[in-house]
Amino acid sequence: MYTSGATVEECARTLYQNGARSVDVFTLARVVDLSERMTTPLSLGVLISGGGTNLQAIIDAIEHEDLPAQIRVVVSNRSDAYGLVRAQRHGLSTAVLSHTGFAAREEFDQQLSTLLRDHKVELVILAGFMRLLSARFIQAFPQRILNIHPALLPAFPGLHAQRQALERGVRISGATVHLVDEEMDHGPIIMQAAVPVYPDDTEDSLSARILVQEHRIYPAAIKLFAEDRVVVQDNRVLIRAEHHRPQTAFRSPAV
Ligand code: GRF
Repeated sequence: MYTSGATVEECARTLYQNGARSVDVFTLARVVDLSERMTTPLSLGVLISGGGTNLQAIIDAIEHEDLPAQIRVVVSNRSDAYGLVRAQRHGLSTAVLSHTGFAAREEFDQQLSTLLRDHKVELVILAGFMRLLSARFIQAFPQRILNIHPALLPAFPGLHAQRQALERGVRISGATVHLVDEEMDHGPIIMQAAVPVYPDDTEDSLSARILVQEHRIYPAAIKLFAEDRVVVQDNRVLIRAEHHRPQTAFRSPAV
């Protein structure tokens, strides 16, 4: 399949012709996994811990036929997560997998992985899921786990990203959707949205402004997978047919 001297683009094209959805051509060992064809509509498993407004945005995009995907299961590690109510209102399968019942992180992750596989999940969506996942879990879904973070990564990873942004005095922050690797809030970036930060912002006001953008970019980023447009090359995401390239600058403060 690969001839020596073939360009990255040629390899990627060959992989796509063979049904790949997402390709890291430098990690040939993973090509077998990545060339597993994803179905249409794309099967999602959404992991939550709390309110689930991002889950709601994904549900709404699917119901409005803006996103060719189906949610096979919503899993929460907390039984009181309001996101479970949202899921049930839309007739979705839900499961609670409480981390408190497991002695080791790996055991929880093993159970979670089995649950997702049983539901035939192809793409794992972390939507406010407040648990670190083990390397084994991440390796079980190579290049198939997405996360959203309320900052412009690589700035401000970790908890309280909005507070970190305010304390640092940045004038622009935002949200990032990325593929998950073994480091926290780290991995190839798929999509970002920027918002201004005002001097009188509180953590709440900045969080609310960022959340509006999260709800726009998470469904849009998942759609890129559903449309088979994501290529991972050398830890960077390339979007196939990215024709629209506005040159508008975004300035804050806008004096
Ligand atoms: C969002 O800000 C997300 O970026 C972060 O956790 C929050 C979850 O919000 N990871 P919700 O549960 O989707 O409303």
